[in-house]
Amino acid sequence: MPLKRVTIDRWWETYKKGDKPTVVVLTGAGISAESGLSTFRDSGGLWEKYPVYKVATPEAWQANPELVLEFYNKRRAQLKDVEPNAAHFALKEMESWADVLIITQNVDNLHERAGSRYVLHLHGELTKVRSEKDENLIYEIGYEPISLGMTAEDGAQLRPHVVWFGELVPMIEPAIALTEKADAFLIIGTSLVVYPAAGLIDYVPEKAPIVVVDPKQPAVPPTAKVHYIAEPATTGTPKAIEYLKERLLRD
Ligand code: APR
Repeated sequence: MPLKRVTIDRWWETYKKGDKPTVVVLTGAGISAESGLSTFRDSGGLWEKYPVYKVATPEAWQANPELVLEFYNKRRAQLKDVEPNAAHFALKEMESWADVLIITQNVDNLHERAGSRYVLHLHGELTKVRSEKDENLIYEIGYEPISLGMTAEDGAQLRPHVVWFGELVPMIEPAIALTEKADAFLIIGTSLVVYPAAGLIDYVPEKAPIVVVDPKQPAVPPTAKVHYIAEPATTGTPKAIEYLKERLLRD
């Protein structure tokens, strides 16, 4: 059966600040850790088991596309068996008093499955694939595997709709524009070592509070003033939201 072609909902092109405060949230692998998805750089993380250069670069795709597909097929199959956690749901609930704009580095769909309205995927999405020749030919694959020989309508091999190391990050421009609109910036579960995502913090308006939730303090620039909650996402996120509610609704 042919795959369903999809277009990405570019909500960020029409988003306008309204009466509610705008809270921009940058999430990384740590927010999904308690759902059962491995992070990348913690001990036992994905890059320890699968070296990046073998599975997540254009060179890897040229050298051994089967291995690359297998890596992402496993990630997709695993995603089917996990659920959003209390941190994802807390962000959804925050929509009752704030415009919650989520910029995620994650390729999972747990924010969407928790019901979040505004999600921008900086590094792509596991449940989508695309033509290796034409980045606009994108298809929904759900949790199914792809194999060599499966092609897009232009006849080109299908590849994961993810950003590999060494590739451009086209979504960084809208992500910067959203960050510049932030009344507050909330960072959850990212080591902040991968650019350009890690550089978003430089675009947070001066008077917007920055809150970080992570059991290990990530690489925040020394000049940034942050309120740091040293806890896992499921317990730290509700506390971060309470803190922001108090700050933003009081001002
Ligand atoms: N709750 C919150 N944070 C957690 C938890 C948890 N339960 N468990 C781990 N963390 C934190 C770690 O302390 C670390 O700071 O999550 C972070 C995970 O960091 P990385 O593994 O580097 O993941 P991430 O920052 O998302 O990686 C960025 O790198 O490999 C690429 O494209 C990939 O999008 C990914 C990008």
